[in-house]
Amino acid sequence: MRIGVLTGGGDAPGLNPAIAGVVERATMDGFEVVGLKRGWEALARRDNDKHVMKLGPEIVREYSRLAGSKLQCSRTNPVNPKNDRTDIVKENLAKLKLDAVIAIGGEDTLGAAEVLFERGLPIVGIPKTIDRDLAGTDYTLGFDTALNVICESAERVAHTAESHETIFFLEVMGRHAGWLALRGGESAFADVILIPEHPFKVDQLIAVLKDRQNASDSLGFEHRYKIIVVAEGAHIVGEEAVRRDSKLDEFGHYSLGGVGDRLKGLLEHEFKHTRYTALAYLQRGAPPSQRDRQIGRRYGHSAVELIKEGRFGHMVAVHRSKLTVVSLGEVKKSPKLVDVDRLYDTVRLNVKIENPLLES
Ligand code: F6P
Repeated sequence: MRIGVLTGGGDAPGLNPAIAGVVERATMDGFEVVGLKRGWEALARRDNDKHVMKLGPEIVREYSRLAGSKLQCSRTNPVNPKNDRTDIVKENLAKLKLDAVIAIGGEDTLGAAEVLFERGLPIVGIPKTIDRDLAGTDYTLGFDTALNVICESAERVAHTAESHETIFFLEVMGRHAGWLALRGGESAFADVILIPEHPFKVDQLIAVLKDRQNASDSLGFEHRYKIIVVAEGAHIVGEEAVRRDSKLDEFGHYSLGGVGDRLKGLLEHEFKHTRYTALAYLQRGAPPSQRDRQIGRRYGHSAVELIKEGRFGHMVAVHRSKLTVVSLGEVKKSPKLVDVDRLYDTVRLNVKIENPLLES
């Protein structure tokens, strides 16, 4: 048996541990594993000699400690209706003598995997995205590590904020889903959390921050600084999310970024000192947390099991803290967004503290 493994979409801590898990489990049965570089690009072009690398236990030995993807990532869409390369993917599977492919990715990479499976290709999936918004699973690789970075970073900027009595915007990732902002902000006891699922008004934001400053004053606090964790996809009522550039990727997404800067600009006349920092890629580059290592490794093992059982068209997943398997078709369902009614306080613009539920 010869298995190809690829990583698509944005990199996330946990990809390398998952690759290592695949190799570890496959080797036990004497299967060969081939790394396919740059996501679907490896299979979507004919001149792909440089995209293929043999993997073995000695090669992946250090992978578990590393963020990013040693196989590199791309946002190539092999089933893009404007440039469908399904036939080339089929040719490449035959050329590389691959009996199965493990695709590790989010909505886009696994969405393409599902289409290719429907067209007869032997593919299974492993879910990753720091945004944790993929349907069909409670856990996606990268989320835990990114969350830890956000929590730690919020504490760091709080020192500067405290020293200057600053209204500090910390912008985090999260295109459609506010999980990183909500749970990161909650962990850091942020004063305000802004998420894509709840468009807000600037007047309300100012009022909430002034209320919190007044409350600090009346309680006799010396420090009036405030931390606002804002998701890149959060936006003002009636406006679109702030874009970082004007180029669409192959799956039709713009890069977002800059909302924190925009809000800082809108609020700087209301407060003594306002500052903004975007965590951007620093969220994705930390060494995988123990959770991302463990789940990544086990996802890798389970993906090989799926192949052994011939259960193509499936993805490994976590449901209520247990490893499970779902159809790849699940990823086409609506993304898992923050349930504002249950989990978000639209008056305080913060996590709902009355509700003890942690999960979606
Ligand atoms: O989907 C994961 C993610 O990290 C999003 O939060 C973010 O919008 C996007 O990737 C950024 O991707 P890129 O690497 O293309 O800038």
